[in-house]
Amino acid sequence: MTATIRTRVAIVGAGPAGLLLSHLLAASGIESIVIDQRSRDEIEHTIRAGILEQGTVEVLTQSGASTRVLTDGNRHEGIELRFAGAGHRIDFADLVDRAVWLYPQHEVLKDLIAARLAAGQDLRFGVTAERIEDAASDRPRVIATDAEGQAFEIEADFVVGSDGSRSVVRPAVTGSSTGGYFREYPFAWFGILTEAPPSADELIYSNSPEGFALISQRSATVQRMYFQCDPDVDPTSYIEDQLWDELQKRVPGTTLRQGPIFQRDVLRFRSFVAHELRKGRVALVGDAAHTVPPTGAKGMNLAIADVIVLERALRALLHDGDERLLDTYAETALARIWKAQHFSWWMTSMLHVAPDASDFDRLRQVGELRSVVESEAGRRYLAEAYTGWTMPEA
Ligand code: PHB
Repeated sequence: MTATIRTRVAIVGAGPAGLLLSHLLAASGIESIVIDQRSRDEIEHTIRAGILEQGTVEVLTQSGASTRVLTDGNRHEGIELRFAGAGHRIDFADLVDRAVWLYPQHEVLKDLIAARLAAGQDLRFGVTAERIEDAASDRPRVIATDAEGQAFEIEADFVVGSDGSRSVVRPAVTGSSTGGYFREYPFAWFGILTEAPPSADELIYSNSPEGFALISQRSATVQRMYFQCDPDVDPTSYIEDQLWDELQKRVPGTTLRQGPIFQRDVLRFRSFVAHELRKGRVALVGDAAHTVPPTGAKGMNLAIADVIVLERALRALLHDGDERLLDTYAETALARIWKAQHFSWWMTSMLHVAPDASDFDRLRQVGELRSVVESEAGRRYLAEAYTGWTMPEA
């Protein structure tokens, strides 16, 4: 006999989207179970991106999910775009009266996990979802295997796939594991973490003839930097001096402060939007529904925006039996998703040098960068999109 657990909302994936959804539902008295195949330790220590939109910070703090972001995170009121030998500040505070916070995703996850556990919520690590059954019925089920290898089922009123870009839930919604709009890029990012003081006060996004680089930060003593590389590069193939050379030649004008490099990884670039975000009583949020390249810093923020829209729809469904907001979930979420797709694609294509770029392409790109930084309207569009469009109403 397979054990069956009952809950109102079964959430597959304990990333920012799944955990925040569970937290918001609990505040409305709706019980949920969150499962994830990874261990708590792995979730809390995997290095991901670090920029939170102002609206994301407001959701995290106002819902009580994280106050640490305000004390341990760093508020940034601008970024620098560097190209053709000069830096140009995009002043968010001045242009749109908004800011972003540098607060790494794994810190958000630590806060969300602590909040779920403190509230006595059912959060299970090491549990693998195999598939979803009866998605079209009003009792969808997650077929899963627990940490000891025992099969069990979760029967719910609703199932949410917040299980990332290799989502197991997605086929129940789109009919296949790929089903979506897709774009691959001919480059990737080589990311490093180094033990060194910051090289700049704000993030530098640099376009150079050698390719793109991003100088980001983590703390007073740890920095995060990336440079454009071939997607098939082997991260172990560089010695440290070569990594510093690659970074330094892409940010002329700034002398990078070097230290030991203690982590390196290659991030592939993809844009993806699932053909469907909901079918019956199953919905997708976050990377299960879409992927953006990291240049616009939109990934986690977009996941949080999906959750706000879906949580409101689930409240109406489960409290009042009202399906109207659920019926418009995909349409509402997709409007923002495609704006973020555009912004992420635009930042990516404007700042990177494609391997087959001609002289025309490179000069046109500098013309594009100039038309952004030399126009208040251009700077304002970038500031508005980067700091985040108004969050959906909760
Ligand atoms: C990061 O600090 O990891 C980071 C910052 C901005 C981005 C992407 C990544 O656009």
